[in-house]
Amino acid sequence: MPCPALPEGFDFTDPDVYQSRVPLPEFAQLRQTAPVWWNAQPHGIAGFDDDGYWVVTRHQDVKEVSTRPEVFSAHLNTSIIRFNASMTRDQIDVQKLIMLNMDPPEHTRVRQIVQRGFTPRSIRALEEALRERAARIVAAARESGTGDFVTDVACELPLQAIAELIGIPQDDRARIFDWSNKMVAYDDPELAITEEVGANAAMELISYAMNLAAARKECPAKDIVSQLVAAEHEGNLGSDEFGFFVLLLAVAGNETTRNAITHGMHAFLTHPEQWELYKRERPATAAEEIVRWATPVVSFQRTATQDTELGGAKIKKGQRVGIFYSSANHDPEVFDRPERFDITRDPNPHLGFGGGGPHFCLGKSLAVLEINLIFNALADAMPDISLAGAPRRLRSAWLNGVKELRVHYG
Ligand code: HEM
Repeated sequence: MPCPALPEGFDFTDPDVYQSRVPLPEFAQLRQTAPVWWNAQPHGIAGFDDDGYWVVTRHQDVKEVSTRPEVFSAHLNTSIIRFNASMTRDQIDVQKLIMLNMDPPEHTRVRQIVQRGFTPRSIRALEEALRERAARIVAAARESGTGDFVTDVACELPLQAIAELIGIPQDDRARIFDWSNKMVAYDDPELAITEEVGANAAMELISYAMNLAAARKECPAKDIVSQLVAAEHEGNLGSDEFGFFVLLLAVAGNETTRNAITHGMHAFLTHPEQWELYKRERPATAAEEIVRWATPVVSFQRTATQDTELGGAKIKKGQRVGIFYSSANHDPEVFDRPERFDITRDPNPHLGFGGGGPHFCLGKSLAVLEINLIFNALADAMPDISLAGAPRRLRSAWLNGVKELRVHYG
């Protein structure tokens, strides 16, 4: 169905449309005129009969898709990307080994196992180490006077948190961080990181994690790896499953949190009254508003397993359905004055961590802890931090990312 509100050929998977306008004004137009809209897409993929995807923009519809896995499957890849003809079915198939792309009952089995590593108790156990780490990161940045907030502050805590949680030995962390950063750097001309470098880094990370799992199986330690792969456990992960789980954490838990922290800092610096309020009162509601405001994951994708209806649209079996968190988090039906950054917003039923279905973010508590710890450390040690330039955006249609944010550490 053509949408009169959008220019011919407009494509929500085109990274360039996000360069200067997030959230896209087109989302607001669709929410009003065609909340579930068919975006014809001329880029096919080998082996798929694929000529477009649905764009789901309203909060209630994003939730509905997320919570009905029997109708909206995660099996055919959850990232809605601009497919290109060189992508093969094999490349898609390998992604099925990652839990994000699994459906129940397989997903339920893996989720029940990995959840053992994300209990409130295991997250609380990390708090002291991460608090100290946050203070050290902020103190080191302060020394440099002026710098890039992304590399100096936002990058390290998410990686350290994952490494602490899994129990990666200190000596191995530099290598893990290097692989993780290469995987999420995309085609950055300045870093000369190509897709191939990223894919090789992913392979090295998987193989490192598989070896770690095999070693812990042989000789268990008091860490999460040992718990997840322990042979005597009824449900456990095979070494290869553990490898893909670590890969998922390095992608899902790393750049998302990095961008939430960076967007949060930028929002504070461009809304100084909110920074003053934060420094004074440290409201517990702040982290959720930072995630709503940032919405680090713009969208995910499901595939219809049967003909169905959603928001008045008739979706056919096999069609791709893009759920746009970025739009849902600015839906005025749910959020009072959604364009306001308000760290006291309560309730705040944002969908930044997902729409509440089986794939709801496993690392939410850890992410919220990290955001709180880093902004507390910043408010304590550099209350006068200020902007030194406009943010440089990540070129991506999937992640709302910032590559560089110049600041004066004050
Ligand atoms: C899934 C967002 C941090 C681990 C997801 C999903 C979203 C998301 C949107 C998909 C939900 C769905 O499909 O319904 C975020 C954001 C974060 C964050 C915005 C930071 C602000 C983390 C962290 C970790 C993590 C710190 C772990 C260290 C995961 C995993 C999944 C997931 C494992 C897949 C769960 C499954 O398939 O069952 N996250 N995430 N995330 N996240 Fe996060």
